[in-house]
Amino acid sequence: MSELALHGARIVVRAGALADAAALVRACADGRRPVVIADANVAPLYAAPVASALGAELLTFPAGETSKTRAQWAALTDELLMRQLGRDTVVVAVGGGVCGDLAGFVAATYLRGVPVVHIPTSLVAMIDAAIGGKTGVDTRHGKNLVGAFHQPAAVIIDPLALHTLPAEHRRAGMAEAIKHGVIADEAYFHWIAAHAAGLLDPSIAAETSERLVLGSIRVKVDVVASDEREGGRRRILNFGHTIGHAIEHLSDYKMLHGEAVAAGMIVEARLGELAEWTLPGLADEVQALCASLGLPVRIGPSFDADAILTLARGDKKARAGAAEYALPMRLGEMNAADGRFALPMEERLVRAAIEASR
Ligand SMILES: NC(=O)c1ccc[n+]([C@@H]2O[C@H](COP(=O)([O-])OP(=O)(O)OC[C@H]3O[C@@H](n4cnc5c(N)ncnc54)[C@H](O)[C@@H]3O)[C@@H](O)[C@H]2O)c1
Ligand SMILES: [Zn+2]
Repeated sequence: MSELALHGARIVVRAGALADAAALVRACADGRRPVVIADANVAPLYAAPVASALGAELLTFPAGETSKTRAQWAALTDELLMRQLGRDTVVVAVGGGVCGDLAGFVAATYLRGVPVVHIPTSLVAMIDAAIGGKTGVDTRHGKNLVGAFHQPAAVIIDPLALHTLPAEHRRAGMAEAIKHGVIADEAYFHWIAAHAAGLLDPSIAAETSERLVLGSIRVKVDVVASDEREGGRRRILNFGHTIGHAIEHLSDYKMLHGEAVAAGMIVEARLGELAEWTLPGLADEVQALCASLGLPVRIGPSFDADAILTLARGDKKARAGAAEYALPMRLGEMNAADGRFALPMEERLVRAAIEASR
């Protein structure tokens, strides 16, 4: 078992942790009244046993990104009000990133804020969504546009839950793990490369999945601890995302976020090489690793460069209409850009990087 801490919250990573999640929740939310929130897929698998061990009610919502809305947030908060849950409530979010973001936002706002404990069950949620305190919902103007920073009281991670995660979601999560290696941990990147085939195997050994999850979380915790609200170093987590978000959008969200990020990392690494910030060969290394995990590595002809550039300019992290890019220097080290950690780039170079990735 391993334990990390972020903003005073325990992050427990242990195969089998779900079996005593109730005790862990009680330990960090002493005397509070728990309510468990999960989507309809995860509810019977993992959330119902946790709720029953806690003697808590289980609220469910339909699985999928389409539930990450203000309407679903309203429905859940109404359920809490109807049950007359008070300020001594603790929300326990069991599930993927959608559940973490939605239930986290419910907790951030219910009666002006009650604690949340995250029990992430997808790879994306374990290594990314549950760590860092971002919560929120989507609107028709874009994803994650309404939300709040709300640090969890604890994060309980049982890597054995990955056994039931559908293969495409495991693969998509691997893109964020690769990103963590590129931005801050070269040894972790090489470890992923050495174990690539086994990491997609649903019967992955407990020890290997623990190591996968821990390697990523260490990076995310370190980066977030140094910059809670994304003013500086936290922006390195955006590697692959300026282009990735544009591709995800242009695919009409048919591509999973991680799939789009894989393609985005390759374009942005090429951009870094063209701009002579990035050690030559890095883009090929990232591409080879993504390909070995079955992630998309080429930008299809239907993804028009003009459309990508327009969307990148409108990205919520763009400053004054100029897209900014967090670029690697070499594996494990990002360009600090005088404390800004992301830079605008000439569109001519961005276009060339896109075309080189067709
Ligand atoms: N807050 C953050 O910092 C942050 C970071 C990254 C992603 N996100 C958000 O996370 C969301 C994506 O997360 P996701 O990929 O986990 O999506 P998700 O929550 O929709 O989960 C993917 C699918 O897997 C199912 N599932 C989850 N765990 C399972 C398990 N152990 N066994 C079987 N099925 C399981 C879910 O029911 C769902 O159908 C996006 O909305 C994204 O914006 C947030
Ligand atoms: Zn991401």
